[in-house]
Amino acid sequence: MGYNVAVDGPAGAGKSTIAKLVAKEKGYIYVDTGAMYRGLAIHFLKKGVSPDDRKAVADACKDAEVTIGYEDGIQQVYLNGENITAMLRTEEVGNMASKTSVIPEVREKLLELQRSLAAEKDVIMDGRDIGTNILPGADVKIYLTASVMTRAKRRYDELRAKGVKCDLDAIARDIEERDHRDMTREIAPLKQAEDAVLIDSSNMTIPEVVEKICSYCR
Ligand code: DC
Repeated sequence: MGYNVAVDGPAGAGKSTIAKLVAKEKGYIYVDTGAMYRGLAIHFLKKGVSPDDRKAVADACKDAEVTIGYEDGIQQVYLNGENITAMLRTEEVGNMASKTSVIPEVREKLLELQRSLAAEKDVIMDGRDIGTNILPGADVKIYLTASVMTRAKRRYDELRAKGVKCDLDAIARDIEERDHRDMTREIAPLKQAEDAVLIDSSNMTIPEVVEKICSYCR
């Protein structure tokens, strides 16, 4: 059994940035489960499946194989053998992932992949239901959050740095909508596990959050 650190929290809380740094510091493997949902979302987008048509999404799951690999320690996502990592981080894919992740067949499809990675290796795994559902026995559980405005501003700065035109209020609305969907869905909603440590990063620097999480890990 690997040593398992679970990090859950809403979109834009900085989970992946922080988890990658903790992984480096502690020698764990970083597993980004959102990227798996995004991988399936690309399959649905390619097939032109509507996220509102649950049956069509469930059917489309049958001919999708999402797998994970590592190149220079960086997680790669493969969809039916094709490396689609570079396509994962668009708003379109993120929204499709959020909408389709409410569907049981989608979650079942990825559950075993996530659990088997954690069983074999020392991992820090981030997502929405890792501490509550995927790895209820994780050695350390963190619930990482920040205010909606802090998260929107971080996303805005990130996009602006890439030269993408964007609107702060629209990003904040999108984040609120995504939070609502992720927190109120029937299966495995985003919530803090009872035994998770709550970290609000609104007024913390990245190194401060990393240090705090590392202090809970062996
Ligand atoms: O973390 P992210 O933005 O890459 O995740 C994209 C969507 O995938 C997110 O809005 C909800 C879903 N997701 C999930 O339901 N469970 C997870 N463990 C990870 C992501």
